[in-house]
Amino acid sequence: MQDYQGKVVAITGAANGIGKELALRFGAAGARLALADIDADHLGALRKELEDYGVEVFESVFDVRHFADMEAFAVRTVATYGAVDLFFNNAGVISVGTIWDQPLADWDWLFDVNVKGVVHGIKAFVPKMIAQDTPCRIIDTASIAGLLTVENSPAYVASKFASLSLTEVLELQLQGIGSKVTAHVVCPAVVQTDLDNCLRHRDPSTYDANDPYYATDDFRAKTAVVTGSIPLGLPVADAVETIITEMEKGTFYILTHPAYNPAITGRTAAIVAGVRPKLVVR
Ligand SMILES: NC(=O)c1ccc[n+]([C@@H]2O[C@H](COP(=O)([O-])OP(=O)(O)OC[C@H]3O[C@@H](n4cnc5c(N)ncnc54)[C@H](O)[C@@H]3O)[C@@H](O)[C@H]2O)c1
Repeated sequence: MQDYQGKVVAITGAANGIGKELALRFGAAGARLALADIDADHLGALRKELEDYGVEVFESVFDVRHFADMEAFAVRTVATYGAVDLFFNNAGVISVGTIWDQPLADWDWLFDVNVKGVVHGIKAFVPKMIAQDTPCRIIDTASIAGLLTVENSPAYVASKFASLSLTEVLELQLQGIGSKVTAHVVCPAVVQTDLDNCLRHRDPSTYDANDPYYATDDFRAKTAVVTGSIPLGLPVADAVETIITEMEKGTFYILTHPAYNPAITGRTAAIVAGVRPKLVVR
């Protein structure tokens, strides 16, 4: 890992999982941190832990669904530290379901957080990063689910295809204006994080917790796929090691699980050949 002494790193979704590990790694490497999350308890504990190590850090508790709060976070980052060197647009949530049965409210939630939250981060941070006219990076967290489809989590897959393509367009537009800002997109497969607990901080106004679909065997079985797989995933420290190494190399598509690379190539070949997607029966 390079030396980040005095560099400014802003992270959304910083209280847990990948965002937390990024904060710990960049804090240890000397960066000044701007950390955002909806999870006030875990974010506060992380801020305190970092301060105890002597890291310069502030926390901002808000929901990435709200642009005004994201803008205030970006303004505070620049006002506090004078610049932004790395912005990790990382907060995200997952839901499961069968498309024709899953409540529409789940689609709104997934797209508001995973797509519009990313747009909010771009809109708040990128103009400030362009204006400072220094080499800096925006790193959006999509998923391998932005490159490969799985049947368990339709809204998640659709939202991650959206955020991945959004980051591709962002990179093209930054190139188009000759900016020194570069974009990157992180595409992990399963990582041991808190993602399976993301309902904890879902705004109750965004859904009906008593919707009958949540009592179905289909929902329970699909939920079990997520809760059963996350603990078996890549350790978060290993995923973040790859993310930082590849970002420093300038890699655009940051893939943390090379075992899936043949499937990505296979998907592209299947598209060109017109082959129907095939259900893998587990
Ligand atoms: N863990 C995996 O297997 C995996 C795989 C691929 C992609 N990802 C992506 O990685 C990113 C980080 O997730 P993670 O796995 O570290 O999970 P995580 O739940 O441990 O961390 C996500 C963080 O985002 C925060 N968050 C959720 N909704 C928010 C909102 N509306 N506003 C502000 N903060 C919010 C959560 O409180 C949490 O701290 C997500 O975008 C996720 O989709 C994770």
